[in-house]
Amino acid sequence: MTPKSILFVCLGNICRSPVAQGVFQYSLNERFGFDLSKNWILDSAGTSNYHNHEPPDIRAQQSTLIHDIDISHQRSRQFKLDDFDKFDQIFVMDASNYKNVLKLSKNSVHKNKIHLFLDSSYPDENRQVPDPYFGGNEGFENVFQMLKKASVNWLDKWTSVNESIE
Ligand code: 4NP
Repeated sequence: MTPKSILFVCLGNICRSPVAQGVFQYSLNERFGFDLSKNWILDSAGTSNYHNHEPPDIRAQQSTLIHDIDISHQRSRQFKLDDFDKFDQIFVMDASNYKNVLKLSKNSVHKNKIHLFLDSSYPDENRQVPDPYFGGNEGFENVFQMLKKASVNWLDKWTSVNESIE
């Protein structure tokens, strides 16, 4: 079933997961149009509370704005237990995020919601979105391209499953 509420999770919630949310929203709009895309609920969170209430890193904002995506309204928050019930799918950026979210899960329903975001592009390879926080601008562009490809690939995957059922 196509998930309709999706949470994107990284460590600080100021670089990768806010960009993932923005890019996924853009990809939904491209594919389904603005009105139908309102049927999805997207959010992002960090496993840490290091940057609570802060906007995305300025480099993350700039790297998405270049591609016409404005993420400046987002604010960092920490992942919490009731996110497992609130969201159909929880996309994590790397193995450390996976481990930290898994630790908080209470049952197999929770656990089955957690996926590495790059699994759509590289199934079963455990590929991770590198943390661009300590690097330069080119790291953010690289992350943007990975997240864009993964977003499109998830939508392709869900669309083709639904078509084969019908
Ligand atoms: P993010 O990047 O997890 O992609 O938001 C980071 C941002 C801040 C820190 C680490 C990673 N930090 O240690 O403050």
